Amino acid sequence: MSECVFVGTSNRGFAQQAQEELRRLLGPAVRFGWLSPGEIFWLESPLSRDETIAAVLKQEPAFLRHLFPADVADEWGGTSAEAIGAVCGLVERNREALSAGTSVAVQIRKPEGEAELPAPASLKAELDVLLQQEYGLNPVVRQSDWILSVYMTRSRLYAGLTRPEENLSDWSGGAIRFRREEGQVSRAKFKLLEAELAFGLDFQSYRQALDIGAAPGGWTSLLLERGLAVTAVDPAKLDASLLSQPRLTYLSKKADEVKFETGKFDLLVCDMSWSHRQMAKLVLQLADAVQTGGTAIITVKLMHKKAFQSIREVTEDLSGAFTLLKAKQLFHNRDELTLFLMKS
Ligand SMILES: C[S@@+](CC[C@H](N)C(=O)[O-])C[C@H]1O[C@@H](n2cnc3c(N)ncnc32)[C@H](O)[C@@H]1O
Repeated sequence: MSECVFVGTSNRGFAQQAQEELRRLLGPAVRFGWLSPGEIFWLESPLSRDETIAAVLKQEPAFLRHLFPADVADEWGGTSAEAIGAVCGLVERNREALSAGTSVAVQIRKPEGEAELPAPASLKAELDVLLQQEYGLNPVVRQSDWILSVYMTRSRLYAGLTRPEENLSDWSGGAIRFRREEGQVSRAKFKLLEAELAFGLDFQSYRQALDIGAAPGGWTSLLLERGLAVTAVDPAKLDASLLSQPRLTYLSKKADEVKFETGKFDLLVCDMSWSHRQMAKLVLQLADAVQTGGTAIITVKLMHKKAFQSIREVTEDLSGAFTLLKAKQLFHNRDELTLFLMKS
């Protein structure tokens, strides 16, 4: 393999879409192969390592969750000793960047069910000790100066050293985890938490939110926690724990049965899990209630095998009132994707 090999990861079942986006970005000469079918793949880029990273960061593919350059992409025998040797070799070659005290997060993955390959957690524990003792590095899990990524298959070991921002996500494989809280209203809350991070938002800076399709209330609860006043619209019931919140207005109605004064909200969120065109129609009807420059976060259900068409249609449908800033399939999205839009 050439020097410019990368390991890419998408949500399961959406790697082909990620590859299509990468082909458009890097040119038709890019080559792909499966590491974990439908989810994880290697790619050989016709551009240099740095050009490839720059192209991906400049126009981030919606379906690519994580990417790392495989500075090592070697055949191997599948033992811990070889993996440790390969990682130490990579560290040795980058001693200038990895001076004593530098923090490094080691992230190791392998395909599901490969019981004979080393266990990522114990290999990481071994490497963390070694990196500290042999090289004076500071092994951490989060917020590191550098990330050392390793992906193991039966035939090959891939390893790369990057700055966290170069991987699109500083979580291993982009699989961001939030702690489940006691009494949490719904798992859907994680989607909005992830959107806040992925789109670089700070919900605390908003004041008035409209949540369409709010029940049982995971998104509403997050926005209330961030200090916003929330108008939650849903014919289904909101979780009883939310009903006593003073900053909550709950309208037990369908979205086409409500109306608001112009510019009342600076944030609109919608997680209706409905046909994308119907959803766009309902959101458009309420668009005047959002201030110019206001933000909208909307999940879009993707038509099977027609993901790009769904995105195109919904952005076109919404274009009369909203400008698309970013579309991203988040780790907590399933057969859907999240849009970040601005009210025009
Ligand atoms: C996936 S759930 C939303 C979960 C929510 N974001 C949370 O965090 O708990 C989708 C919701 O959309 C609501 N919904 C569907 N069609 C609607 C409509 N026309 N108007 C308002 N709500 C609708 C459903 O009743 C359902 O509660």
